[in-house]
Amino acid sequence: MLTQKGPIGVFDSGYGGLTVLKEVTALLPQYDYIYLGDNARTPYGSRSFETVYHYTLQCVEWFFARGCSLVIVACNTASAKALRTIQQKNLPVIGANKRVLGVIRPSAEVIGSFSKTGHIGIMGTQGTVSSQSYPLEIKKFFPEVKVWQQACPMWVPLIENNEHLNAGADYFVTKYTQQLLAQSAAIDTVLLACTHYPLLFNKIKAALPPHIQVIVQGGIVAKSLQNYLMRHPEMDEKCTKNGSKSFFTTDDSKNFEQQAGLFYGLPIQAMQVEIG
Ligand code: DGL
Repeated sequence: MLTQKGPIGVFDSGYGGLTVLKEVTALLPQYDYIYLGDNARTPYGSRSFETVYHYTLQCVEWFFARGCSLVIVACNTASAKALRTIQQKNLPVIGANKRVLGVIRPSAEVIGSFSKTGHIGIMGTQGTVSSQSYPLEIKKFFPEVKVWQQACPMWVPLIENNEHLNAGADYFVTKYTQQLLAQSAAIDTVLLACTHYPLLFNKIKAALPPHIQVIVQGGIVAKSLQNYLMRHPEMDEKCTKNGSKSFFTTDDSKNFEQQAGLFYGLPIQAMQVEIG
């Protein structure tokens, strides 16, 4: 039987997933990758379960139509609100031999090992926080760990509008970090549970007491993918390996190219596609 081979798909509501792609391609440069940012419909963080599920499924189907057998949902909000339903309900129908992986489980698997006090702060979008996905997943791997969550609804708009390094961003960084710390003085580890937030890393780190570690997801997700491909040679075989990367956006490609460098660290060329 012929195996359909294709690139690995990497998806986010906008630019954030590029912070994950950057780490994935650094660790696994041999694979081909397609990135899709649903910029026309970003942000997902404040949208309903149904809407995020509907948008994410459409994007996953787009990757499948382009020959991808493996798609990484490099967006916490979409991982929290859509992934399980796609894996359980849709995949058996639209792609029984295909796989869609998220960013929450790989982070939950390791985050407890960073903390000495066993008190972890999760900073994410409203959607990620209200889904309770992190407390539920972390409990499976670290039952003793206490998880404190803080929604940071202004951070993605600040980043998407390139205002994150300006003084205006300080107000919201201070506000949300203080709100998190007010929940527990024992927090010693903070996970940036939104793929956009690494762009605010320096400000977040500076706003927190120095003993608190701030953890970003890109490297964690990259290692987890490497491990997955080793454990699943049948999936590895379906991924082409020519070291190529292509970038797609559902909004204007010139805008995407201008902003993407901030997240990916290198200039890129993008194409606009229509989805939905
Ligand atoms: N980057 C997405 C995440 O990791 C959120 C961005 C959005 O709100 O669309 O949650």
